[in-house]
Amino acid sequence: MKTYRAALIGCSRMGAFIDNEVPASSYPYSHAAGYEACDRTELVACSDLRADVMAQVGERYGVPSERQYTDYKELLERERPDIVSVATQPEPRSEIVVYAANHGVRAIYAEKAMAASMREADAIVEACESNGTFFNLGTNRRWDRGFDVMKGIIDSGRLGALRALTIYGTSNLFNGASHSFDLIMRLNSDRPAVWVQGLLRDADHAIEDGRITIDPVGEGIIQFENGVTGYALNAGVRRAEWEAVCEDGVVTALSNGAEWQVREPGEPDHRGRKRLVAGEFPEYEWKSSTLALVEDMVHALDTGEPTRCGARVARASTELIFAVIESHLRDGARVSIPLRDSAIRMERGIPAKQPRFARQD
Ligand SMILES: NC(=O)c1ccc[n+]([C@@H]2O[C@H](COP(=O)([O-])OP(=O)(O)OC[C@H]3O[C@@H](n4cnc5c(N)ncnc54)[C@H](O)[C@@H]3O)[C@@H](O)[C@H]2O)c1
Repeated sequence: MKTYRAALIGCSRMGAFIDNEVPASSYPYSHAAGYEACDRTELVACSDLRADVMAQVGERYGVPSERQYTDYKELLERERPDIVSVATQPEPRSEIVVYAANHGVRAIYAEKAMAASMREADAIVEACESNGTFFNLGTNRRWDRGFDVMKGIIDSGRLGALRALTIYGTSNLFNGASHSFDLIMRLNSDRPAVWVQGLLRDADHAIEDGRITIDPVGEGIIQFENGVTGYALNAGVRRAEWEAVCEDGVVTALSNGAEWQVREPGEPDHRGRKRLVAGEFPEYEWKSSTLALVEDMVHALDTGEPTRCGARVARASTELIFAVIESHLRDGARVSIPLRDSAIRMERGIPAKQPRFARQD
């Protein structure tokens, strides 16, 4: 079986060292750790603007100094990797993804958010489709087995038809809602949205001349073509919780999927009204979502079958981010999907973070 050669562009937290921040049992979580854990991939080269951070990747993951590049174009030219990870912030992402797709890379694992503007998301779709490049977005819950079980319950019809999907902690659109919008799209079998109404909190000061200089906290309503409604809330302490309300029952992910709850029809109450009682959420075996994502790309490369979050799927959840912004800019008006004329670009100019090179526990 072929071992695919992977290269990492953006060697900071999600690229290589976030495993030192999350519980040790979450390994592998970073891209580099995903390639290390997958027996079909090998991390052969890396690129970052910060040579000192790359040197740490070299030490931890065995990438020799001659394969550490401050210029990602040189890496692609010399190393010709099969798979490339783009774990930068969203602002430089599309330029790198488009260049990689146009220069022979066969599969790209791009971090979320997909892009800093819709124009850039479109450029990624165009480059991946015209070159036949496989793409996955780092919206990890799409490969999480617990959420697979949640989707299985919805799809089984055991609780009746899906009616609503609630995100309790929408948070910042690019950093947090990128995950949640992708998740509710997956739970709704990637059926298209038809309109969005959105609101940004405390962002007006940061929007000027088509640029937004912060990652804004947002919320709103998302209407899907199949009648399902998405509610993107910011409900305080219910930060990482998601709920699917069906005609006859409810399934809820609590505490970021550490707990699950099913409520299903019980005996009617004294007036004959429907009453919900606790139901069973099936047992499942935990597996790293990053590893599952990498294996999904390996499978695509082996077979030619699509990945779970191809560029067009990724674009659809990205469009919801920009639709919330556009709705806010139009005083909360309903914005139709497909979104037209979205010219806004996020440009924060934030410094890169300092990764933790070792665990602190
Ligand atoms: N999937 C998840 O659960 C998850 C978790 C954390 C972060 N993330 C995402 O991962 C991405 C990176 O987050 P982070 O906290 O590691 O960011 P960071 O700012 O710490 O690191 C980004 C790195 O990219 C490098 N970089 C920037 N431009 C580059 C270029 N042209 N060529 C090579 N390297 C370049 C920077 O020098 C920096 O080291 C973000 O989009 C974030 O939202 C995802």
